[in-house]
Amino acid sequence: MSATSPRANLPEGIDPDDEWRGLNILDPDVQAAFRVDPYPFLAHLRSADPVNETPIGMWRVTRYEDCQHLLRHDTPTGVRRTDGKRFGEEQMPAALQDGGTFMLQQDPPNHTRLRKLVSKAFTPRAISRLEPRIREIARDGMQRACERGEIDVIADLALPVPATMICEMMGVPVEDREQFTQWTADSTHVLAALTSPPDVVERGLEAVRCLADYFEALIAERRKSLTDDILSDLIRAEEAGDRLSPDELVVHGAGLLTAGFETTIGLIGNGILALLRHPDQLERLRTDPGLEASTVEECLRYEGPILLTVRVAHEDIPLGGKIIPRDAMIFVMLAAANRDPAVFDAPERFDVGRKPNPHIAFGGGTHLCLGAHLARAEARIAIGEFVRRVGEFEVLEDQITWGASLFRVLGRLPVRFSPRD
Ligand code: HEM
Repeated sequence: MSATSPRANLPEGIDPDDEWRGLNILDPDVQAAFRVDPYPFLAHLRSADPVNETPIGMWRVTRYEDCQHLLRHDTPTGVRRTDGKRFGEEQMPAALQDGGTFMLQQDPPNHTRLRKLVSKAFTPRAISRLEPRIREIARDGMQRACERGEIDVIADLALPVPATMICEMMGVPVEDREQFTQWTADSTHVLAALTSPPDVVERGLEAVRCLADYFEALIAERRKSLTDDILSDLIRAEEAGDRLSPDELVVHGAGLLTAGFETTIGLIGNGILALLRHPDQLERLRTDPGLEASTVEECLRYEGPILLTVRVAHEDIPLGGKIIPRDAMIFVMLAAANRDPAVFDAPERFDVGRKPNPHIAFGGGTHLCLGAHLARAEARIAIGEFVRRVGEFEVLEDQITWGASLFRVLGRLPVRFSPRD
């Protein structure tokens, strides 16, 4: 390739003439480069073709206003096709064809019924009562790390805080964590069954089966003595008859457990990595702990763990000079919207005091993340404790290791530091 080729100015894998607009999600090389740094690809897609039809008929929307338009139901969208089937259901592995009973894969009225059953555990009031426990877990992790002068941010802080909290809220024995941590990470790939390699999807399906078996056994046990945890609430709803089917019960047990920590590990880990890479912002937060809440919002915007969510057009939708046809699947590219220069001043800058910060890392509309208050509280406390206790530091690995999850979650982040306090 000649030095004057447009490729020379673009990250590896970006070809502006390519019908995928450089982001061919089926190409393993592009996948690998995208994993390392998705933002140049997303910026290119947003400026070259903001409402983009891919060669496989799926659409990608990258501008903030367009994403909001689709999420907020300004225009008719759902998460299923207008015939009630999931997009691409016919091409999915048999095990997934009749599955998908988790609330994120349901349109109203089913979605409304399912979400109502669990939402009371996630209100701001319910979450504020959990804060002392969140702090205790974060302090405990940091205390042990301080004694060693070394921390793996993921294993010692970013994972234990959300994993312990969601286990305690759900009534899942936290000692079983070793068993299901791999399953929850692997199972996330089932969400991308249409575009992931078959072996990855098969591993995801096996993890889903293991999680289902695990929850069936746990539910059988819990039925003998119901308590005040979320699993008991779900069992009561199932026993009340038509409000939850046995299948929905298992799916929501496994789904809430997975949603409850697979993502928040990413928020805490990516957030701390961003702070370590921007020592001026770390110092700013250290001297002004009042910035903890806005730091979390900036971590969500700048390096959130979930890059996209899915909607299906329920009518022909005119957008960006094109028509997205009824029943087309649309990737709403949250991470691209969150760095849209039309909305965010200097979007590539990590600024812990950024205001306003109307990011959409939690999606929007009726499916707006149910766990947003919990994730925010966990991240604010965990990141706050980290910054309070860590003085001089050295990141021990140059290369980033990503975890097994579909989401943007680090595998490990070892840091040597001199403790403060
Ligand atoms: C940083 C952490 C988190 C991020 C970035 C995140 C992000 C998201 C996103 C993007 C969606 C889809 C929204 C849409 O399509 O409009 C979602 C849905 C959901 N999230 Fe989270 N999430 C996080 C943490 C959590 C936690 C801690 C829980 C707790 C159980 C949770 C439970 C859920 C549930 C149940 C849904 C489906 C809601 C529905 O369909 O009504 N999430 N989340």
